Amino acid sequence: LTHTNIFLLVKQLLVAETLLLLSPQMQTVTLIPGDGIGPEISSAVVKIFEAAKAPVCWEERNVTAIKGPGGRWMIPPDAKESMDRSKIGLKGPLKTPIAAGHPSMNLLLRKTFDLYANVRPCISIEGYKTPYTDVNLVTIRENTEGEYSGIEHVIVEGVVQSIKLITEDASRRIAEYAFEYARNNQRSSVTAVHKANIMRMSDGLFLRKCREVAETYKDIKFTEMYLDTVCLNMVQDPTQFDVLVMPNLYGDILSDLCAGLIGGLGVTPSGNIGANGVAIFESVHGTAPDIAGLDLANPTALLLSAVMMLRHMGHHEHATRIQTACFDTIRDKKVLTGDLGGSSKCSEFTADICHRIQDLD
Ligand SMILES: NC(=O)c1ccc[n+]([C@@H]2O[C@H](COP(=O)([O-])OP(=O)(O)OC[C@H]3O[C@@H](n4cnc5c(N)ncnc54)[C@H](O)[C@@H]3O)[C@@H](O)[C@H]2O)c1
Repeated sequence: LTHTNIFLLVKQLLVAETLLLLSPQMQTVTLIPGDGIGPEISSAVVKIFEAAKAPVCWEERNVTAIKGPGGRWMIPPDAKESMDRSKIGLKGPLKTPIAAGHPSMNLLLRKTFDLYANVRPCISIEGYKTPYTDVNLVTIRENTEGEYSGIEHVIVEGVVQSIKLITEDASRRIAEYAFEYARNNQRSSVTAVHKANIMRMSDGLFLRKCREVAETYKDIKFTEMYLDTVCLNMVQDPTQFDVLVMPNLYGDILSDLCAGLIGGLGVTPSGNIGANGVAIFESVHGTAPDIAGLDLANPTALLLSAVMMLRHMGHHEHATRIQTACFDTIRDKKVLTGDLGGSSKCSEFTADICHRIQDLD
């Protein structure tokens, strides 16, 4: 090596190091596009992330149920390996054919990664008219047990029993997550939703754990409310709620009800938080087979889930720019997909958001 070559080499290394310091570290995210409209809305999100220069490197994986050793259903090893490594996933809708012979892939993913908390922020979208304005709440649903533990049997012909399983550990874990979420997201109150007046032992245990955890989060206001009272109050005035935490079945129903307050599943983001730092963010609508492949799908729910993912990863600035551009497109009403009352294609809606992101630069 001559002196000149060494000089050039050192210079190149310095430039590379400066570039690395200037640009935030790229982080790998496992992308599961899913079925039906999944690939279209996933590709829209990828384009919008490119326009925003979000520091994310996608690793695409397909998930279909396969039979593992001992006949157990599992997700393909390359998808599991990617999630184990990246810890963060973004998932489009997955079809669950009736009588497919295998469990729902969503359930399998939930079990595989112990995704114990389902988090759905429901925030009114300015310009998208619904009967309610100023909704700003978050439902946190225990995702692993309760009425969905899958323990059912026939006692005698004509009599079946389904077990609602509530454990101390899962109840404490979801309560802790709810309070921690409230604290980290500048939210001031947590409401435990229950029916402990009827299911004294099971919901009673859930409520007791919420009360115990509340004692250790004195900065967050804690209230408890019966599920039926929450439903009544929710449709009368949703603005009185902040963070709500509840067992599985109540969460399944109440989270869809709350999505309805802001315009439905097409605009509602969702995140599933798991053990060991794993998290999968997803749109909660289905595969929309009636419009699949026609460039008519609305990518907002998946995009806002991806925005939630960016915040979870600590990329708040990128998240805010993408969300602002998306809400501006909706508020402007010129380029909207059919479900939002417009006649534009998914690709046109996506391009409009990309242009707005570039204009924000
Ligand atoms: N999270 C998931 O993976 C998930 C959730 C629900 C249903 N599914 C699966 O999806 C399949 C179809 O279910 P479904 O028909 O009951 O519900 P669906 O949500 O797929 O469709 C209901 C209606 O909403 C419309 N729609 C849904 N998402 C849309 C979007 N992003 N943009 C525009 N329009 C949209 C559809 O065109 C349809 O008219 C089933 O196999 C079901 O198992 C998956």
